[in-house]
Amino acid sequence: MTAGAAGLATRVVAWQRRHGRHDLPWQGTREPYRVWLSEIMLQQTQVTTVLAYYPRFLARFADVTQLAAASEDEVLALWSGLGYYSRARHLHRCAREVLARHGGQFPRTAAELATLPGIGRSTAAAIAAFCFGERAAILDGNVKRVLTRALGFGDDLAAAHHERALWARAEALLPTRDLHRAMPAYTQGLMDLGASVCSRRRPDCARCPLQDICVAAAQGQPERYPVRTRRLARQRLDLWLLLARDAQGRVWLQQRPERGIWARLFCLPLFDGRDALLARLPARARDEVVTHPPLRHVLTHRDLDLHVISARLRAADVGEGEGRWFGADEWPALGLPAPIRGLLAAR
Ligand code: ADE
Ligand code: SF4
Repeated sequence: MTAGAAGLATRVVAWQRRHGRHDLPWQGTREPYRVWLSEIMLQQTQVTTVLAYYPRFLARFADVTQLAAASEDEVLALWSGLGYYSRARHLHRCAREVLARHGGQFPRTAAELATLPGIGRSTAAAIAAFCFGERAAILDGNVKRVLTRALGFGDDLAAAHHERALWARAEALLPTRDLHRAMPAYTQGLMDLGASVCSRRRPDCARCPLQDICVAAAQGQPERYPVRTRRLARQRLDLWLLLARDAQGRVWLQQRPERGIWARLFCLPLFDGRDALLARLPARARDEVVTHPPLRHVLTHRDLDLHVISARLRAADVGEGEGRWFGADEWPALGLPAPIRGLLAAR
């Protein structure tokens, strides 16, 4: 098996040059700022979605200095719709640290990159490989799938020591020569294989450059890899949202607290029950509320069922200090959770 894995890097590099992706907007550069931004956006987000956000973000923040100078609210507003907003907060903090700790230049090694906010081990390796040709291993979800299959690595990745063992295997497989050319192609090639040929449910082994050395393909059931026993139990949560409008059609929005769901984004007032929401309304408004059909919103570990109740309120009906009325002209510039933005756009 180990002998069979020899040649994996050569195959991946050759395949990437012929069949991999070459035209993505972050591929034509070795500039760390651009590569870093793309890698953060691409965490947990499809390439097609990132293609729309990436140029817009770069048009507003051309370099790390401009990003560091922005307010967090503006960064969150530009991020709105990409989801996983902790990424945007870390991105902003990272830009500020690159200025404060590194004089505006990203550090040039994976080890140093991994000390910055929001840059995990795999992302640090991707940046170092793409920009500096460092011999550093990536191991995101897609790459774990490709490598566990190719190697026939059947140990349970829920156990930290097995995960560490897989990292060691990934490092041993890296190219050894011509690193400035080979490392970017190898890194991108593994990502591309994981995103296309070696898919979770139906790997297309006939089109895979690793087929002749792949242990899982030889065994006949590649979908059995990777093995991971611990299941994240998906929870369902009901939330009630008050869509309060005033006579001019403005909507009442509040900034969410530091912790918890949609932290620091602007949002409709949230309640954990219908009665709690209604109790906040004056009797006159309570009789005229409209309850909309629930919207399902899927987060990583949770499904949210959003129950929107709309009401007409007067300025005097709402408490001071917990938000304010926002007109439709102000919504685009606010950091809003994607489902809330969709809801406002739809009504
Ligand atoms: N996913 C994570 N990084 C990526 C990249 N550089 N290209 C395509 N998909 C990716
Ligand atoms: Fe995945 Fe099949 Fe390629 Fe093995 S041969 S790496 S299972 S696509």
